[in-house]
Amino acid sequence: MKRFEWSEWWEERKQKYLISDEPFLDRDRFASLCVGTGLPDIQQRSTFRFRNVRDGAERFIGRSKSGEKPFARIYTRLGNPTTEYLERVLFQLDCQHLIDAALAADEREPTVGSMVLASGMAAISTTLLSLLESGDGIIAGNVYGCTDSLLRTLSRKFDINTYFVDTTDSAAVAEALRLHPEVAVIFIESPDNPTLAMSDIRVLGGLARQHGALLVVDNTFCTAYLQQPFRLGADFVVQSTTKYINGHSTSIGGNVLGPFRFMSAEFFTMAKDLGPTPSPMDSWLNGLSVQTLPQRIDAAVENAVDIAAFLSHHPRVERVYYPGLPSHPQHHLVGPQMRNGGAMIAFELEGGARPAERLMNYFARHDTPMELAVSLGCVISYIEHPASMTHHVVPVADRLARGITDGLVRLSVGLEGASILRTAFEEGLTEAYREKRVGKNVGALAPAGG
Ligand SMILES: Cc1ncc(COP(=O)(O)O)c(C=O)c1O
Repeated sequence: MKRFEWSEWWEERKQKYLISDEPFLDRDRFASLCVGTGLPDIQQRSTFRFRNVRDGAERFIGRSKSGEKPFARIYTRLGNPTTEYLERVLFQLDCQHLIDAALAADEREPTVGSMVLASGMAAISTTLLSLLESGDGIIAGNVYGCTDSLLRTLSRKFDINTYFVDTTDSAAVAEALRLHPEVAVIFIESPDNPTLAMSDIRVLGGLARQHGALLVVDNTFCTAYLQQPFRLGADFVVQSTTKYINGHSTSIGGNVLGPFRFMSAEFFTMAKDLGPTPSPMDSWLNGLSVQTLPQRIDAAVENAVDIAAFLSHHPRVERVYYPGLPSHPQHHLVGPQMRNGGAMIAFELEGGARPAERLMNYFARHDTPMELAVSLGCVISYIEHPASMTHHVVPVADRLARGITDGLVRLSVGLEGASILRTAFEEGLTEAYREKRVGKNVGALAPAGG
């Protein structure tokens, strides 16, 4: 069990202001937070002029006479006004209920800090590096390929061991905690990438608390619009803003929300010293795109519900993973945790990898909707092959144990319109099973273990 000097303070605040059974913010309130009250100019600059030596010195100890955020306007690696705007908006989206409760209680000290970094992986790596030290342990579920790879590197090089556990099985997590008292962090994605399996965030938050560990939730697939992990007991929310927040595939970025006393001290120091600084231009693009987040997600979810139903009834489709379908193993968690089932789908075709490859190559054509591309959360639908792309770095045995078979296809549903996508799927599936079709790009996918 690892104790931080802010542990008790944080636990008390969490119970008082963050954990909440109240329903999500209604759509209109959420939408108005997204629109905000004024996207700032792009402060595309690396350094800022001080008024005098005292002004510069005070800024370096985190003070400023003009009421600006500590470390604002020194040097962009330490903070930039365009990025701070985005940090504030993302904080509000996850924590407006906290703001309301703290204001009602006349609470002056901030509870949650928000930092925007240069990528989702920067958000994840900076969180883990600032929280953990040699000898600590991590429990992780099925996670994005680069996160998986980072966790293995931390084990190999820095003696921060990860125990990979099926986090959809809360009893397995409890047992792993019992066996490994040094575990300081439980790291999950829910729904996970790419199988859409869901973990019970409330239960895992309770297990983490009992053990004295911290629950970190990668909320990239949902954003605060679909899931608010702090309400359920999480200690940190990380997300890649590259996906739904940006929504147009125009920038790479990440965000971390966590205990303010930690974020403003160890986390800030680690971020400034490692240097994964977002460019002001990218922060501005994300500040612009987040303005339409709920409308984009609503439209994508509407399409996804349609496509998931279509796929689940298609004779050539063997399995569909979509949290919104009653057949999903954790469908019962959607109501308590998520606004709805989201816009990510995975599926397997009869015959496995070969027809899957043909289907993806159909969508790679320029005359079809969608793109064969990694990433997700864009207005354009993306189809991809996790086993050879986003999750190819996961060792084969682990990948297969997690259900990432060679035939698994991941789909990020965009805004093209359900009828367009459905018609294209019908045609693509017909092509995928056309007799004696031997395209020159077909056959690249290695069989499992190969
Ligand atoms: C769930 C999840 N987390 C983190 C990341 C990493 O984000 P980025 O590419 O912005 O570093 C990804 C990227 O696909 C992801 O899917």
